[in-house]
Amino acid sequence: MGKRRCSVVAALATIMVVMVELAPLTVAKSGRSMLTNGLGMTPPMGWNSWNHFGCNIDEKIIRETADALVSTGLSKLGYEYVNIDDCWAEISRDDKQVLFAIESLALVNHIDGSLSVPVQYVGEGSARTINPEFVKYKQEDSALCSWLLSSIGSSILPSLVNCKNALDIWEKIWAAHLSGYRIAVVLLNRGPVRYSTTALWDDIGLDPKTVVEARDLWEHKTLTTHFVGNLTATLAPHSCKLYVLKPIA
Ligand SMILES: *[C@@H]1O[C@H](CO)[C@@H](O)[C@H](O)[C@H]1NC(C)=O
Repeated sequence: MGKRRCSVVAALATIMVVMVELAPLTVAKSGRSMLTNGLGMTPPMGWNSWNHFGCNIDEKIIRETADALVSTGLSKLGYEYVNIDDCWAEISRDDKQVLFAIESLALVNHIDGSLSVPVQYVGEGSARTINPEFVKYKQEDSALCSWLLSSIGSSILPSLVNCKNALDIWEKIWAAHLSGYRIAVVLLNRGPVRYSTTALWDDIGLDPKTVVEARDLWEHKTLTTHFVGNLTATLAPHSCKLYVLKPIA
């Protein structure tokens, strides 16, 4: 997969799903009796966006494909993965794509830490099996780690070495102090209505009197207004903004 993902991403986060091209519909009826633990009953099966759509993917295509896997009955036969392949992490992606990734995978709770890690095993002794909730958590968390890591500059990577999950990474990025006294700040509106969010200098480790130049990373624009003491942004529902603040006085 990912021809463009860097090795650090691969090292820090296992990619969320194993993907395969849509394979011919064959269901094995016979064969040796394997472990009856319910795991790996089929190879990982599903759909991958790359071969047909390349980079031209959007929310509509992915949702329609997921619906089609269900309505055609393929999902019941085990074709249950919908993999968003390359280009979701392009530099030119916008916050809508990012939010789509977060929302479709229900990942927001991984970011704010309100989702606790489910126990890894359930049952006792020989009845002990891996907890499906744990597996789901790990997949979602890995997906979020991949996205977070693909969204940041290489200068932050060394500070993420011991991060074990998305929350660890998020907290480091949130507090990320960059070179030249710059600071990366994310403002997040998790609610369903338009909302203003403020980052206070006190909270992000700046002296309240510092004058700051702000660059909106997703707009690729340095704002003409300078900020003192705080930066407020009005955010659309379920939206976020990423700024780099550079002290200038
Ligand atoms: C944010 O900064 C402006 C200008 O410095 C100030 O007038 C305003 O009270 C500050 N808001 C908060 C919430 O601190």
